[in-house]
Amino acid sequence: MSVFNNYRIQLDARKLDGMLKLGKHIRKEFPIFQNAPHVYLDSAATSHKPQRVIDAVSRFYSTQYGSIHRALHTRSAEATRIYEMGRSRVEHFIGANKPSEIIFTGGTTESINQVAFGFAVPRIKEGGNIVISAMEHHANFLPWQRICTQYGLSLRRIPLTDAGEIDEVAASELIDENTLITALVQVSNVLGTVNDLNPIIAHAHSLQVPVLVDAAQSIGHMDVNVQALDCDFLAFSGHKMLGPTGVGVLYGKYTYLEQMEPWRFGGEMVLHAGLERSKFKEPPHRFEGGSPHSAGVAGLIAAIDFLEEAGVSNIQRYSDQLLSHMIDQLQAEEDVQILADPKQRSGLVSFVLKDIHPHDVASILGETNIAIRAGHHCAQPLLRDLGIPVTNRASIHCYNDEDDIEALMDGIRRVKSYFH
Ligand SMILES: Cc1ncc(COP(=O)(O)O)c(C=O)c1O
Repeated sequence: MSVFNNYRIQLDARKLDGMLKLGKHIRKEFPIFQNAPHVYLDSAATSHKPQRVIDAVSRFYSTQYGSIHRALHTRSAEATRIYEMGRSRVEHFIGANKPSEIIFTGGTTESINQVAFGFAVPRIKEGGNIVISAMEHHANFLPWQRICTQYGLSLRRIPLTDAGEIDEVAASELIDENTLITALVQVSNVLGTVNDLNPIIAHAHSLQVPVLVDAAQSIGHMDVNVQALDCDFLAFSGHKMLGPTGVGVLYGKYTYLEQMEPWRFGGEMVLHAGLERSKFKEPPHRFEGGSPHSAGVAGLIAAIDFLEEAGVSNIQRYSDQLLSHMIDQLQAEEDVQILADPKQRSGLVSFVLKDIHPHDVASILGETNIAIRAGHHCAQPLLRDLGIPVTNRASIHCYNDEDDIEALMDGIRRVKSYFH
């Protein structure tokens, strides 16, 4: 019986004591914690992998491997079966309508670039604009900036409220009939804000504006359902949801995928390659030119198994409690300033220590094997708005527990006593 079957009972019973300790048991399924013990508070950058994900990748290469979609031999058939099973698993995991709405990519960055250059660029009209928010990761900022400078469109950034949420009123003013596309993050990788995107998406749709959602920080931390969101595109990465690096997903409503053009060109994406012109396959295959990261998909299936077995909503309830515990501790500590105060937060918090550079904080904590992040978190426009060039960020996943928070707080006190 899996550890989750035992602990799901406690989660359902809402036993707070059990909940703050749960990560200690879940951690046993992640070999890195035994092999290289450390306090890991950097899951927003990338998550650790449970044994079954590592096993699935290894099993794929040791017993199932072959080229995908290319050959008639049994190795290829088996590898293709697993790859396409991955597509169906992702379809169900995010509530898509059919497997062909799922495109495997290298990660969130590639997914967004595919939409930017394969979908938005061919639809550009003079005088158009693209709307993003002021809290976007560079992956959801630079492609749109590039298009706007190259094709003379205006890039509109929806400002944030004082609490650090996307300003819904401003969004409804900035998204208009000339908006080519709106691309918004569901959970900010700097502020941890969970944005309520539904009203903004409804407004965009009332003007026939398609919406892309960057789910890099929400996937695996909360139920992400494309029907409930009603987004037109959704982008996420395997490595942040306990899965392998180098594999990710772009979901698109099929009607939009039919209109989208390939952005990368290569093998296995055409029905016919002629000297003058070529005929591309139907979605999703025309967007997967070249040899895909099939082993990554095998690992992604195992990550989805893990998340579904745990219950994503259980993980969310557990980590919400742990996060509010961490925030309470940080708030109680003198000279710690927390960024933003949103209604709903997920998985992470950014903070600064008075008069101590975030890099010093992270490197002193690193000396005692406590991993937190210091930097601009690939969101320089946001940090510029906030007037803070760098912050510290502590982020959690299901394998963290209150001992990790205690270690963080002890570490912060050590840093303070060293500098003051
Ligand atoms: C909100 C957000 N979007 C996009 C990305 C880019 O993800 P990847 O580097 O996996 O493509 C990240 C990575 O940190 C992120 O936090």
